[in-house]
Amino acid sequence: MRNILVIGIGAGNPDHVTIEAIEALNRADVLFIPDKGEEKAALRHLREAICARFIRKPGYRSVPVTIPRRAEAGDDYPGVVDDWHARIAASYRGLFESELAEGETGALLVWGDPALYDSTLRIMERVAASGLDLDWQVYPGISSVQVLAARHRIPLNTIGAPILITTGRRLAAGFPVDQDSVVVMLDGEQAFAKIAPDGLDIFWGAYLGTADEILLAGPLAQTLAEITRVRAEARARHGWIMDTYLLRRRVAA
Ligand SMILES: C[S@@+](CC[C@H](N)C(=O)[O-])C[C@H]1O[C@@H](n2cnc3c(N)ncnc32)[C@H](O)[C@@H]1O
Repeated sequence: MRNILVIGIGAGNPDHVTIEAIEALNRADVLFIPDKGEEKAALRHLREAICARFIRKPGYRSVPVTIPRRAEAGDDYPGVVDDWHARIAASYRGLFESELAEGETGALLVWGDPALYDSTLRIMERVAASGLDLDWQVYPGISSVQVLAARHRIPLNTIGAPILITTGRRLAAGFPVDQDSVVVMLDGEQAFAKIAPDGLDIFWGAYLGTADEILLAGPLAQTLAEITRVRAEARARHGWIMDTYLLRRRVAA
């Protein structure tokens, strides 16, 4: 049997790697470093920096993993994602077979926390279902959402109330009427600028946890133009951006 450690490494700050994750990194025979394309090269460098800083064994083996690109979603988003995951699972299976001997342990370094908007755990299920004799364990990481809340010094929920964590694609349909705290991830289209802004506050963060971190907050109606401008400038400067935000319904004082 081959064993895989799925390790959450935080969302940009090596100081956020947990002691449990460090111990797991040090148990791995091979480290698999996903590479999702050129715009994410900065993120790959961070993963490499984490290995260099925390792995005590000299000469540890790391293997880059090229993640296949997803086709344009079009009308069939679930179908396109399913096909994409099947291709990733096939590529992981091939790597596990070629890079790990029976009884060896590999590590997959996952951005933020593996349980939040990340497909690695679903893909592990697929690889095992394809017939490879495989076991895996999961090590939680500090998510970008936790860093966002910490930097803005806010709780995510209001007292006794739920939080919705969703995507920009879904927010674009409107702020959910039955929610007061909505965290938005994976928003490449600035959905916050497409919804009715009245009565909402925004707490926005980009490159959270990194030296390039940007934070902006305020009433959505008055802040959205500045966030749009700052976001576009930062994206052009770095060539990529990762941002997330909390939208909160304002309660009358
Ligand atoms: C594929 S999801 C991965 C989330 C990750 N598993 C986590 O726990 O943060 C990628 C999205 O997470 C958010 N994100 C991840 N890292 C971030 C960071 N350093 N700063 C701001 N947002 C980040 C962005 O919304 C981005 O589109």
